[in-house]
Amino acid sequence: MIEFKKLTKSYDSKTKVVDQLDLVIKDGELVVLIGESGCGKTTTMKMINRLIEPTSGEILIDGKNVLTMNPIELRRNIGYVIQKVGLMPHMTVGDNIELVPYLKKWDKAERRKRSAELLEMVGLDPDIYLDRYPNELSGGQQQRIGVARALAVNPDVILMDEPFSAVDPLTREQLQEELIRLQGEVRKTIVFVTHDMDEAIKLGDRIAVMKDGKIIQYGTPEEILKNPVNEFVEYFVGKDRLWKSPELLMARDIMNKRPAGVLAERTPAYALELMRERDTEFLVVVDAPADRSRRMLGVITPRELKGKGTAENNRMKNLMRTNHPTVMDNTNMVEVLALMKSSQVRHVPVIGNEDGYFKGIITYASIVNIITDVITDFNPDDREEENA
Ligand SMILES: Nc1ncnc2c1ncn2[C@@H]1O[C@H](COP(=O)(O)OP(=O)(O)OP(=O)(O)O)[C@@H](O)[C@H]1O
Ligand SMILES: [Mg+2]
Repeated sequence: MIEFKKLTKSYDSKTKVVDQLDLVIKDGELVVLIGESGCGKTTTMKMINRLIEPTSGEILIDGKNVLTMNPIELRRNIGYVIQKVGLMPHMTVGDNIELVPYLKKWDKAERRKRSAELLEMVGLDPDIYLDRYPNELSGGQQQRIGVARALAVNPDVILMDEPFSAVDPLTREQLQEELIRLQGEVRKTIVFVTHDMDEAIKLGDRIAVMKDGKIIQYGTPEEILKNPVNEFVEYFVGKDRLWKSPELLMARDIMNKRPAGVLAERTPAYALELMRERDTEFLVVVDAPADRSRRMLGVITPRELKGKGTAENNRMKNLMRTNHPTVMDNTNMVEVLALMKSSQVRHVPVIGNEDGYFKGIITYASIVNIITDVITDFNPDDREEENA
């Protein structure tokens, strides 16, 4: 765990480049620092491995104040990847990767084994690349070597300062994919600096939005996109961003929250009247009225009611269909749409993941509503609720 406590850096008495930062980065999390040029991202990052000394405040790694550690030793135990990789031009790829293991006096065979393994890990064939020189590699390949080098001594913490910003967009995307895959395997605590919100959303477990040396908002990509704390974050995020990240839209965001429910004891005549009134052909049979928490028992459509309208002893509980697909409220929209397509349904009841209660219904209409909201001004909580 990395902890900032009132971390501050100033170069003169007037301005604080980093201003009283408090931040907790949990083990195995990738945290993105994002903000405009000059807001203090690099300075913050460099204070972690003491390339820059704080003016005041503390940084703790696993509870230990970095200011009490030997800075050289500290740096060797923290991986560091920067934009212009900083590979030694006169050294081979292998020797570049093995630099810190060498400084730590690993023996040669062990170092070679590790560098070959790391090359494989970042998707480069050791037989081809181990003995090449940096200028014989593409920008993206050099960047991969930078990542391999940062992992060399298996550090718990890795700092990455705009590591992918100097490569073309396609390579950049590949490198991002690889980092996600790699992080899935090695689970390091990573601090990642970028200008690019798409990159932040894609990679970050959490994002810290910075401005003028302060953290304006710290949260998951979902929180930042859905509930930006102020206009700056909103502007930085961009209005249509959420729509570009449909995996961050959950069933609870796109459902109609006042769905048509019908009690199990109701008659077919009542159900037909309700369908007419709510202008829907789909009712969820529930065990309690709308003002209470209620469970879904089944569904009723005109098909179940056909020819049953007059028989007084027919009740919803006897007529309902119980095999209709449902989703949990934390299912993402991509999966919801896939389910609607594969099971050929136009209505999907939403069930609370935590409490198992019936929460709402997703229909194509409710999805269209959300598109409109996202394009105009998204706030799922104050949206006018409509009929399913
Ligand atoms: N040695 C220094 N002396 C005085 N001011 C400095 C020094 N180093 C950095 N600064 C100032 O500190 C501020 C923060 O710089 P920093 O490099 O942390 O920004 P950044 O957020 O990483 O920006 P970028 O996105 O452009 O990399 C800037 O205004 C910069 O001019
Ligand atoms: Mg910077």
